[in-house]
Amino acid sequence: MKRIVIFASGNGTNAQRIIDHFKGSTDAQVVQVLSNNKNAKVLERANKSKISAFSFNRTAFYDTDDVLHLLKTVTPDIIVLAGFLWLFPEKIITMFPDKIINIHPALLPDFGGKGMYGKHVHEAVYAFAKANKGKKTYTGITIHKVTPEYDKGACIFQAKVEVTQEDTPEMIAQKVHQLEHKHFPEVIEDLLFDTK
Ligand code: GAR
Repeated sequence: MKRIVIFASGNGTNAQRIIDHFKGSTDAQVVQVLSNNKNAKVLERANKSKISAFSFNRTAFYDTDDVLHLLKTVTPDIIVLAGFLWLFPEKIITMFPDKIINIHPALLPDFGGKGMYGKHVHEAVYAFAKANKGKKTYTGITIHKVTPEYDKGACIFQAKVEVTQEDTPEMIAQKVHQLEHKHFPEVIEDLLFDTK
């Protein structure tokens, strides 16, 4: 049985999709959900699905080895960042080489880096599309390996969708979420079982 750990900071609709995708599977399961935000809805979602879920603070993540130790105990086959907003510490990346992946709500290397998360990304894409009037504009999703820098690791998967002049940032967000929900669980499965 392959073991999936999810890190998320907020709502957790992607985490939910991943949990649901592997529910009942005898090959892979989400075994742990972790959040930097004790009020994150993702923790509730995990509890409802009877998945172990904890929140942690900066000290446990960056200064002590508390989160690292927990991960060592959980022995994940893959660590999935699904809307996780803190920079991942190098010590954890070193401990799980090539096993940590992130989803970014745009087509990296565009619209990535520090401060580029959630609605900030979609607002930037919206402004770009408005300025780019007359030319086709795309946004999308990037699933990539995690390195100690924001949004810099090797790309694993991208999918794109057109941004029209009528789209608002909220509509762009919705289109991107749809792509995420469709592809993220499958990409995780492919990585776990090396089917590509
Ligand atoms: C997702 O769109 C994800 O790509 C984004 O946060 C959202 C979380 O949504 N991640 C980043 O912006 C990271 N830079 P969710 O909580 O509904 O899954």
